[in-house]
Amino acid sequence: MTAIRIADVARSFGEVAAVRGVSLDIADGEFFTLLGPSGCGKTTLLRMVAGFCDLDRGAIHFGDRRIDTVPPHRRNAGMVFQNYAIFPNLTVGGNVAYGLKARGVPAADIAERAARALKLVQLDGYAGRQPHQLSGGQLQRVALARCLVIEPAVLLLDEPLSNLDAQLRVEMRGEIRRLQKSLGITALYVTHDQEEAMSISDRIAVMRLGQVEQLGTPADIYRRPATPFVARFMGTTNLLSGTLTGRSSNRATARVGATDFVIDLGGRPHAAPGAAVSISLRPEALRVLPHGTEPPAGWAALPARIERIEFLGAVTRVELALDDGAILTAAALELPPGEGPVTLAYDPAAVTVFPGDA
Ligand SMILES: Nc1ncnc2c1ncn2[C@@H]1O[C@H](COP(=O)(O)OP(=O)(O)OP(=O)(O)O)[C@@H](O)[C@H]1O
Ligand SMILES: [Mg+2]
Repeated sequence: MTAIRIADVARSFGEVAAVRGVSLDIADGEFFTLLGPSGCGKTTLLRMVAGFCDLDRGAIHFGDRRIDTVPPHRRNAGMVFQNYAIFPNLTVGGNVAYGLKARGVPAADIAERAARALKLVQLDGYAGRQPHQLSGGQLQRVALARCLVIEPAVLLLDEPLSNLDAQLRVEMRGEIRRLQKSLGITALYVTHDQEEAMSISDRIAVMRLGQVEQLGTPADIYRRPATPFVARFMGTTNLLSGTLTGRSSNRATARVGATDFVIDLGGRPHAAPGAAVSISLRPEALRVLPHGTEPPAGWAALPARIERIEFLGAVTRVELALDDGAILTAAALELPPGEGPVTLAYDPAAVTVFPGDA
């Protein structure tokens, strides 16, 4: 049973405050991801959990056991790195056995446990190979096997897929998730790729400048970003600055340029009329309809003109100009035929509103 509790942890390097007071409670068996742009402190926080970086402040517990004062090899954590960190002069089997030898496991058990770990990552039969004979995806599997073979209580992964090509990345993230689930192991995963984070995680902490900007399930964070930064970071969005012009109990209107956007507040607290606000409207929340079409019940509609179309396969990316010249991006499954004016419809419940300018 290994929950991870990170309490008010901070770390600076000279003038740079890399991690500025982060607290997280990660449940036993949870797949938890630290997501954020380069330099936001993800690796520093993960290294503090692993034991490769000292804390300036705070405490880290695995279950009831305080571990930030314990040396790395006594924490029962396995770490997988971006660059695999495979020993080039050892065979695949030697790499996987390494941690067992270091822990004084009897030789008779080592071969069997190494073979089992290689089987877990679908590399049975590879024990005798040299690392230079393996592909990037296979090397990353060796790194994973080397980590799993010691049967760690927690699995720490720092951008383990970023050296792989796009298709392999998708395949491997599914494999990592399956392994983590079947072993019931608690995982702390670092990535700057929002799609990867959403696909693999139970929960995500979006980090910015050494702090947690938002914590939640992938769907929460995507649908209800807490700040414009999160809205922008979690995929593309139309982020517009304007003024709140009116509101009734559950609906409000935001004036952006010369366009009024209807917002369904869904009972959430909200700024007063006259306040500066910004709104986020995801491309896939916009529907492009033939000019003059009635929008679905409860939806709002705007006159617009198609400016640019990019066919992307599953969806078509459309840039549309509103009457006041503002440009919105839509991701459409279908489009009215031909060019010319269209009706742009959206569900007011899909609009997220933030206090202040974006
Ligand atoms: N050993 C170090 N010495 C000095 N500064 C450091 C050190 N490690 C990290 N930093 C700084 O701390 C900040 C956070 O770095 P960190 O590596 O944790 O970011 P990250 O979120 O992992 O970024 P990336 O996505 O690029 O890997 C950065 O400004 C970085 O330059
Ligand atoms: Mg990093």
